[in-house]
Amino acid sequence: QIIDWDAEAAEKGGYPHFVIKEINEQPDALRRALTGRIRDGQLHLPEMERIEHAGLLNGIQRIIVVACGTSYHVGMLAKYAIEKWARIPVEAITAAEFRYSDPIVGPETLCIAITQSGETADTLVGIRQAREHGAPVIAITNIVSSAITRLADAVLYLQAGPEIGVVATKSFVSSVAVLYLLGLYLGQERGRINPEQMQEFLEALEILPEQIQQILDHANSEHDTIEPLARRMADLKSIMFIGRGVGYPTALEGALKLKEISYIHAEGFPAGELKHGSIALLDPETPLVGIATASHVYEKVLSNIQEVRARDAHVIVVATAGDERIKQHANDIMYVPATLEMFSPLLASVPLQLFAYHVAVARNCNVDQPRNLAKSVTVE
Ligand code: G6P
Repeated sequence: QIIDWDAEAAEKGGYPHFVIKEINEQPDALRRALTGRIRDGQLHLPEMERIEHAGLLNGIQRIIVVACGTSYHVGMLAKYAIEKWARIPVEAITAAEFRYSDPIVGPETLCIAITQSGETADTLVGIRQAREHGAPVIAITNIVSSAITRLADAVLYLQAGPEIGVVATKSFVSSVAVLYLLGLYLGQERGRINPEQMQEFLEALEILPEQIQQILDHANSEHDTIEPLARRMADLKSIMFIGRGVGYPTALEGALKLKEISYIHAEGFPAGELKHGSIALLDPETPLVGIATASHVYEKVLSNIQEVRARDAHVIVVATAGDERIKQHANDIMYVPATLEMFSPLLASVPLQLFAYHVAVARNCNVDQPRNLAKSVTVE
């Protein structure tokens, strides 16, 4: 048993839990997702050659992204990115709903399956059904030769390395990056992205690992504010997360992380929707986390935050470094480096992961193996 313990401690590389180890591995995981795919200022996705040569993408009219849990949030981000860059309509749907929705799919519908494990039964069954209707399938997964790869016309691997913690952390960041590369690829193929724009996107992507490292270095230093905040929040009953645009799936993912590992009730909302009902839940005991990074909807998010502050809610925001104005609107701020709006979830999600982790640790939860959860759900 002593030997087991040592082996496990070694595997954790000096970290107390796999989850925090994996959060800290994100710069490397992201680098591996980009390695070889961005070269000399150009995008290379050799995995797409076969599906291209077979002509399977020629008649594509729309895209359906099928996924569960955290991967579904990646799918929601894929909708924003692919619609913006390739101007192809995208629907993101949770796999368990897709399957029984009598979906309208055929050869003109590209299906993208996102599953880090490659073994999630709901996703597999949904994708099998789409294939039977003649839909081409692209799979995005972390596990080589997993079941999803046998159902796909093209496979894009995350190359994130093993993720032992049940909750998805580095596989989330890697999935978003790979989906974005696919979105840029489709945009380029459709002639919607010119070489200068592509260069700007790729340069912004390439510095993301370093920017995540900056967030982590700060969090690992004596200047960290996330862990002290998490300790103060450890007795919470309920917390809300809001965001707009790509900040909305980021809010959902922040809420999911907290629910999964700390068992605190957390909900994510599109910020503009809050006033249509859910704002009734807010009281001084229910804090709000606002995703307020730089974006074309920044002002709108600010006004949504003001609405809740007027109800005495404690406001925590994720904001872009250098944003001084946000200080008037927030009780606590988690700053992240500046990037292009579309890429902001890759940075904003990191302090939210750290927040969920430290809240869970403060509550003595089993962060690596939360109750009732499995790394991959292989039953429908
Ligand atoms: C389980 C895990 C989640 C994960 C989801 C989808 O529910 O607990 O963390 O997001 O499955 O997993 P997948 O492997 O398909 O991405």
